[in-house]
Amino acid sequence: MEALALERKAEQNRELKERLLQLKKERNAIILAHYYQRDEVQEVADFRGDSFLLAQKAAETDADVIVFCGVHFMGESAKILAPNKTVIIPDERAGCPMADMVNVEGLRALKRQHPNAKVVAYINTSAEVKSETDICCTSANAIKVIESVDSDEIIWVPDKNLGDYVSKFTNKKIIIWEGYCNTHDMLTVKDVEEMRAQYPNAQFVVHPECRPEVVKLGDFVGSTTAIIKYCRESDCQEFIVGTEDGTGYQLRKDSPNKQFHFATKYLVCPNMKVNNLKKIVKALETMQPEIYVPEDVANKARLSLERMLQVK
Ligand code: 13P
Ligand code: SF4
Repeated sequence: MEALALERKAEQNRELKERLLQLKKERNAIILAHYYQRDEVQEVADFRGDSFLLAQKAAETDADVIVFCGVHFMGESAKILAPNKTVIIPDERAGCPMADMVNVEGLRALKRQHPNAKVVAYINTSAEVKSETDICCTSANAIKVIESVDSDEIIWVPDKNLGDYVSKFTNKKIIIWEGYCNTHDMLTVKDVEEMRAQYPNAQFVVHPECRPEVVKLGDFVGSTTAIIKYCRESDCQEFIVGTEDGTGYQLRKDSPNKQFHFATKYLVCPNMKVNNLKKIVKALETMQPEIYVPEDVANKARLSLERMLQVK
C-alpha cells in the first residue's frame, strides 16, 4: 500500500478504536475474539482465546453485551451459556463449514444405529446438533471429555481428523462422523516436507484438525492454545505452524524474537476473516446482527456445554 493510503488507514483505525471504546462503555459490552481473527480484531479484544476459553469467558462475564468475533457456532454457544446477555456478531456470514457437515437428522439416524453409544460433539456444531448430544468438547479437552463419559461406545461428531487423533488415546470404541475443517484439512505431507527442507532447525507444531498423516509429523500436537503455550515455553527459536494463520498474532506477541513460518499460505479460514474493526463498531452501534437460539434448543444444548465446562 502507498504511504498515503497507509496513513489514511491508520487514521481511520484510530478513529474506529476511539468510537469502539465509547460504545463499549455505553453498552457495557465485552469483545471476545478467537485466535483466528484478523490482527485488528484481536488487538481490540478484551479476551482472545480458543473455543474453550471463549466459552468459559461468555459463561462468566457480567457485561450486558457480548460481541463475539469468531464464527456463528461460537456466538451461539455464548448465547446458550449466557441467555440473559445480548450476543452480537460483526458479520452473520461468518459460518463454519465443518459445523454445517452434521445435521440433526443425520445424527439421530446414527444414534438409532448405535443405541448404547453416548454422543460427544465438538463445539464446532450448531445449537440444534448440540441439543442432541450428551456432552460437548473442544480440541483442548477432547480426550478428557471422552474419558469422562459413562459409556465405552462414543459417537463422535463432526471432525473425522480430530476423531482419529483422540481415538489413539482411548480404549473406547469411537464411531466417527465424516466431517472436516476445510482449512486444516488442506495441509499435506508434501507441504510439511518442503517446509522442513527450507527450515531444518524449526519444529513442526500442528493442530489435530489436520489430516492424520500430517498430525503424525508433528513435533508437538495440540489445540490452538496448547500450540501457543508450547511455542512460548519451548527453547526452540523457530517453528513451522500447522494451524490457522491468525494464531500468528498471539505467537509473535508472546515471543517477538522467535520465528514462525505458516506451513502453507492456504492455512487461512475465510469465514473467520469476514469480521473486521469497522463491522465491530457498526454491530455495537446497531446492536445487530444479534444471535437468537430457540429456548427449547438452548435449554438442551446448555446441558451439553455445561457438562463440558465441568470436566476437570
Ligand atoms: P480451537 O479454537 O478449539 O483450537 O479450534 C480450532 C478451530 O478450528 C475453531 O474453529
Ligand atoms: Fe470451521 Fe475450520 Fe474455520 Fe474453524 S478454521 S471455523 S473449523 S472452517
